[in-house]
Amino acid sequence: MALPRIRILATGGTIAGETCPGGDITRYRAGVRPVEALLTAVPELGALATLDAEQILSLDSKDMTPDDWLCMLSAARQALADPAIDGLVLLHGTDTLEESAYFLHLALPTGKPVVLTGAMRPADHPEADGPANLLAAVKLAASAEGVGKGVLVVMNGKPHGARHVRKARTSGLDAFESDPDWTTARPDGRFASLARAPLPRVDILPGYAGAPAMLIDACVADGAQGLVLALSGHGSVPSAWEPSLRRAREHGVAILRASRCAGPVIRNANVDDDREGWLTAGDLPPPKARVALMLALAAGWDSATRQTCLPTF
Ligand code: SIN
Repeated sequence: MALPRIRILATGGTIAGETCPGGDITRYRAGVRPVEALLTAVPELGALATLDAEQILSLDSKDMTPDDWLCMLSAARQALADPAIDGLVLLHGTDTLEESAYFLHLALPTGKPVVLTGAMRPADHPEADGPANLLAAVKLAASAEGVGKGVLVVMNGKPHGARHVRKARTSGLDAFESDPDWTTARPDGRFASLARAPLPRVDILPGYAGAPAMLIDACVADGAQGLVLALSGHGSVPSAWEPSLRRAREHGVAILRASRCAGPVIRNANVDDDREGWLTAGDLPPPKARVALMLALAAGWDSATRQTCLPTF
C-alpha cells in the first residue's frame, strides 16, 4: 500500500537552531538549519510517509509577524488543495507557536490533518527533542486520528488542540499543556475562505496597577483598529482607562476585554459590555483573542457580529 504523502513547511525555531560557536548549550540561534538537514536526521520518517518539504521562513518565532502568518497560510492552503497531499506538518518556534496554530485553525479549510511542532532544545543539542517531535508530528498527520480535529500541535510526545494549547513554561521538554484532552478537539475553519489581505493592526494592552491610559490613546493614534485588553482578574477595566476607551470606540476601534488569568471573562458581568460596545474573550487568552479579532476585522465583520468569533460565557 502506498504511504501517505505529507508536506513539511519549515519556518525556523529552535527545532532548526544551532549552538553559537564557542557558546554553551544555553546560547544558540533559532531558525538556522535548513529543513532538508532536519529530515535527514530522522531516517525513520521514510517508513511513515512520503515527504516533500519547503522552507517558507527561517525565523526565531519571537520575530513572527502577521505578514508571516499570511505567508504560512498561503503555503498551507496551497498544500491542502493538492489532491496528492494527505496531511501537513509545520515546523515552528515554540514561543509564538500557539498564536500561529490558532490562526491556522481559524483560517485553514478543515479536513486533512495539520500538525505543528517545534523543539525546546536546538538541533545540535546532545539530547535534542526535535527529531522525536518531528517523527510524532508526521505520524499524527499521516493517521486517521489526526483527521477532523482542526489544527493540532504535538510536543514531547503529546498532541494538543490549537484552541487550548499554550506554552505554559519557559523551559523544559514539558513546556506545553492544554485542557481538555486533544481527542475532544473540534475543527473550526470559519475564516477558510478569507481572501489574502493585510491583517488589521490589533494591539494587546496589559492591565496592571497604575497602567497609564495614554497607552490606549497612543495605540489609536498610531493606527490600531482593535485593542485587546489583557486585564487583571475577571477582565476588570481600570476606571482611569474609561475616557480613553470611549474615545477609541468613537473612532471605530474594536475593544475586547480579556484576562491575564485563566478562566472565562463573562459578558456583561460587573460591567455593561453591551452598552460600552465592548467584546469579551470568554476563556481565550489575550494573544488568541487578538488572532480571532484580527480575522473578524479582516473579514469585514461589523461590530454586531464580531462577538460570534469569540467564546461567550
Ligand atoms: C522560537 O520560538 O523560535 C525560539 C524558541 C523555541 O523555538 O523554543
